[in-house]
Amino acid sequence: MQLTPAKRVSHIKPYFFAELAKRIATMRAAGKDVVRLDMGSPDLPPPGFILEAMFDSASKTNTHGYTLGQTQKFRDAVAAYYQKRFGVQLDSKTEVVDLIGSKEGLFILSQVMLNPGDVSIVPDPSYSVYAKSAEIAGGVVHLMPLLEKNAFLPDLESIPADVLKKAKILWLNYPNNPTGAIADMKFLESAVAFARKHNVLLAHDAPYCDVGFNGYHAPSILEIPGAKEVAIEFNSVSKTYNMAGWRVGMAVGNPDAVRFIDTYKSQQDSAIFAPLMAAAEVAMLGDQTWLNERNRIYQERRDVIVDGLHRAGLRVAPPQAALYVWAPVPEGQTSMDFCSRMLEDTAVSTTPGVVFGKYGEGYFRISLVAEAARLREGIDRVAGWLQKH
Ligand SMILES: Cc1ncc(COP(=O)(O)O)c(C=O)c1O
Repeated sequence: MQLTPAKRVSHIKPYFFAELAKRIATMRAAGKDVVRLDMGSPDLPPPGFILEAMFDSASKTNTHGYTLGQTQKFRDAVAAYYQKRFGVQLDSKTEVVDLIGSKEGLFILSQVMLNPGDVSIVPDPSYSVYAKSAEIAGGVVHLMPLLEKNAFLPDLESIPADVLKKAKILWLNYPNNPTGAIADMKFLESAVAFARKHNVLLAHDAPYCDVGFNGYHAPSILEIPGAKEVAIEFNSVSKTYNMAGWRVGMAVGNPDAVRFIDTYKSQQDSAIFAPLMAAAEVAMLGDQTWLNERNRIYQERRDVIVDGLHRAGLRVAPPQAALYVWAPVPEGQTSMDFCSRMLEDTAVSTTPGVVFGKYGEGYFRISLVAEAARLREGIDRVAGWLQKH
């Protein structure tokens, strides 16, 4: 029997990192010592008190069933976290929904908001799910360039009027993946006002809000008065608390958007395993001081990478947040060829900028998810290689 996929999904290509992982596995099998600086999965564990909360919950007899419809305690904890961390007041019954990682919510938002032909305005470069989820929903993606000359903030006023008329979602993500850029309150205020004026839902993706350097703490878009009327924010414990594999996230804000996601989810999945929620609650509401040391470690790693790139003659501004250094590819090369040759010649794996969209061409992304000594080894190999070429 020959199967054909539904038209809706027939154009989907395998996720870039899945293919890269296969190539790296082959290289490792051949004895190469590959330094992986491509994906953004935190390498450090969460602290013991978070793990203990999970063990405690898992050791009970009544925590192993489905939790669908039984996540209110977690939603209350998210509301308390938003109050404590951002000074944002949320109604945990109507303005919070639990997610199996924020990625789930990003994908679902497009499914519940877009009719075929509706426009989703997506930054480029960006995390691929914003655009892919819109395409799968039958929506039309309008790309909004993030340019270095604009500090990787979009120029909202340049979005054409006919696009805005059909637009249902406008995506933003700060601190930003892949550029490491941040947005100040003035920009976020202008985005909220813009969304209100053009009657478009502002979807702010904020999973890097607590990975910041030199004491930087990112704001929530919901800190802006009235933002809840026009905005939904996605967040998770993945990057903030070194819990990416746990798959615990949340969407907060506009109650209609929250309800649409909640309803869709009730048909799609059966919510989060109770011990994981218990641990995430402790992570959000317990001691936060350990994040200072964790961020100091990331900052040291950032400096190792930035110094190495400078030695290699590549100009980069040190990012103030997120897990990445966004660096220019030497002139005359595509990012895909450059990263592929780098992997072949130096066994250091980074991500070509074009993977994040056409405006990512000319850059490559280095993740800060290895120990400083390992990063130093990787960047030394790259610097030596660049100097030879
Ligand atoms: C910008 C951005 N949004 C969302 C996610 C997904 O995070 P989560 O683990 O919460 O699903 C990532 C993961 O790398 C990301 O970079």
